Amino acid sequence: MARVLVTRRLPDGGTDPLHRAGHQIAARGDDTPFTHDELCAAAADVDAIVCLLTDRIDTEVIAAGAPRLKVVANVAVGYDNVDVAAATSAGVAVCNTPGVLDETTADLAFLLILAAARLASGAEADLRDGRWRGWGITQYLGRDVHGATLGIVGYGRIGQAVGRRAGGFDMRVLHHTRHDTGSPGWRGDLDELLAESDVVSLHVPLSDETRHLIDATRLRIMKPSAVLVNTARGPVVDEDALAAALEEGRIFAAGLDVYEREPEVHPRLLAAPRTVLLPHIGSASQATRRRMAQLACESANAVLAGERPPNLVTP
Ligand code: GLV
Repeated sequence: MARVLVTRRLPDGGTDPLHRAGHQIAARGDDTPFTHDELCAAAADVDAIVCLLTDRIDTEVIAAGAPRLKVVANVAVGYDNVDVAAATSAGVAVCNTPGVLDETTADLAFLLILAAARLASGAEADLRDGRWRGWGITQYLGRDVHGATLGIVGYGRIGQAVGRRAGGFDMRVLHHTRHDTGSPGWRGDLDELLAESDVVSLHVPLSDETRHLIDATRLRIMKPSAVLVNTARGPVVDEDALAAALEEGRIFAAGLDVYEREPEVHPRLLAAPRTVLLPHIGSASQATRRRMAQLACESANAVLAGERPPNLVTP
């Protein structure tokens, strides 16, 4: 029997795999995140950690857990919160939850595409705040999504799932990855894709290469009529530059689910026109969040049993 730290209350059924394996669970049991010190203390006497993207699993947490700690299973597909290099050198396996959240996250990306292009948040806010005085032929004029060109940046599972949805809206779909996918619509040059797209949707993981991938220069390459959607990671976009682009009307609208310094939202973005801002809910459906939690627990079980889980991110 192993001892597994679960850093936050998980969706119902989420820890079932740990119970079935007979592991002892050291759980937070509520929604308060551990402080960094608490996390280090809690890591010291466990064999596995099942954590969330809001937990920073850095060198200190890994060092506190080693040598007993065998695996960190992140309940998220993105794992930029985990120091994978530190884990690798300490012999700690790191796992994530790819595959089970693609469709749910793609649904949300499409929600943002539609809502941002059609100015839904501003229009709803006017209605709720009593500013709507009746139908007007020049009111709330958004951009059509059907027939537009969609540029998908990062063409992994989620990017491809967004592309499939775009087919239903008769969109022309382009995608950018560094290596040729061999699929129609590939653009090896990101700037070329940005210049051609009416809607740009980001689906790259956060890394040193993708931090501020969309910066002031790239925002200037986008069409003034373009809509930018980010459901990936906040730091992929330079928020200051995005706020300026929206304020100056250099792009049409933005739909964001992720932010550079969550849970802080840049005050200039909150004040910027033509935005739809959601609180990082990309994978937040009941079924998907349960499945993500279970997959992370199954991965922890596999490592603890000496097996190799399919979703291992450490080499
Ligand atoms: C959510 O943002 C995830 O990476 O799973």
